[in-house]
Amino acid sequence: MGKTGKEIVKANINEVLNDLNAAYSDEWLAHFQYWFMAKWIRGLDADTLKPVLEEQSTDELGHAGKIAERILQLGGRPVAHPAHLLEKSGCGFKEPTGDPTDLKRVIQDVLEAESCAIKSYSRLAEKYRTTDMVTHELFEDLLKDEVSDEEEWERFMAGL
Ligand SMILES: [Fe+2]
Ligand SMILES: [Fe+2]
Repeated sequence: MGKTGKEIVKANINEVLNDLNAAYSDEWLAHFQYWFMAKWIRGLDADTLKPVLEEQSTDELGHAGKIAERILQLGGRPVAHPAHLLEKSGCGFKEPTGDPTDLKRVIQDVLEAESCAIKSYSRLAEKYRTTDMVTHELFEDLLKDEVSDEEEWERFMAGL
């Protein structure tokens, strides 16, 4: 990152990088989870749910990309091994199991992931509000996306 860009970061860079890598890992795992669910689900409403899962899976990958850019900008290294994604992740990973026609449960798991992301981005956006404004704004943008994701899923759940 540029000299001045670095100078304005008052937060501990390693701490920022750790928080960014945790969020980056969460996004990869959400991307993977939603992608898998889209392939796996079955049943009457599955065809309606599939494209929504696919679209949101792509969105989460986009989030991982934005976070990776900030990590690199700060001179860090995004997690580069899949096994480390789980280690670094703040929200963890819930393997889709059980009945693939139980779409309510699938959406419940998605809502859990979204809820964890909302809590984590809200905390992180607050944490860097004055000490790293660029990272703060990134977390705030991600927070807005996850809040609208949650709303979309709640509406979908209500319609099932
Ligand atoms: Fe996301
Ligand atoms: Fe999301």
